[in-house]
Amino acid sequence: MTTLIDALDGFEPETALVLGSGLGGLVDAVDVSLRIPYSDLDGFATSKVSGHSAELIAGELGGHKVAVLSGRIHYYEDGDSAAMRQPLTLLRDAGINRLILTNSAGSTDPDMPPGSIMQIKDHINFSGTNPLIGEPSDDRFVGLTSAYDKAMRKAFRRTARALDIELHRGVYMWFSGPTFETPAEIKMARRWGADAVGMSTVPEVILARFLGLDVAAFSVITNFAAGMTGNELGHSETKEWAPIGGKRLTQLLTTTLKEGFA
Ligand code: HPA
Repeated sequence: MTTLIDALDGFEPETALVLGSGLGGLVDAVDVSLRIPYSDLDGFATSKVSGHSAELIAGELGGHKVAVLSGRIHYYEDGDSAAMRQPLTLLRDAGINRLILTNSAGSTDPDMPPGSIMQIKDHINFSGTNPLIGEPSDDRFVGLTSAYDKAMRKAFRRTARALDIELHRGVYMWFSGPTFETPAEIKMARRWGADAVGMSTVPEVILARFLGLDVAAFSVITNFAAGMTGNELGHSETKEWAPIGGKRLTQLLTTTLKEGFA
């Protein structure tokens, strides 16, 4: 076991990226300096979800120093929505000031099919919990009016236009999982303003804003949500479709990091 700072051995990432289910392919675009299994790092819990690995990769993406979290722990794994608090705090202490989150999600929008990429512009926390419950300081009262950084959103949109990548924009609704939603829940989600539904990301966004990090987040759509087609849902769609949208997402992230957020 070692501390993150010791493991990074002088490498100073500016941005952290969290890879969602089936999105590990992004690592192929990274010029890797270090690969550190979470099991070697103090404070990093290991996800056991298939399709997720469990290591931190330090290197350059588009010439920009990044720490890539290949695998995240989910609320549904052990009921702790603050499981990512320590890793994110340690990364902040190691110098990162920006967090880019990715996930696989179901679409509630008939015009946003599997393979689409959605930039998250806002979220609905439908889980009934919050990772800052129990935080004693007044810092827990985090404003989330502009949780998803405007300058970053603009920069990603600019790149998407330049690369001719269709980038949807929408609201992500966090369900606890691990079951998929019911058709009735999806009808409700759509009426309440959700464009995509999933089992992650929102707790990390909350924690990152608490820690003072700028945040951007993307969903790769792996399926139409429950009840929208005749099909039953399972984890296999996620594993099948995530790498497809993931390729374009990698292009979008790499080019934007290369060009910067100014
Ligand atoms: N619901 C919740 N999480 C998901 C879905 C979904 O339809 N697809 C991928 N992750």
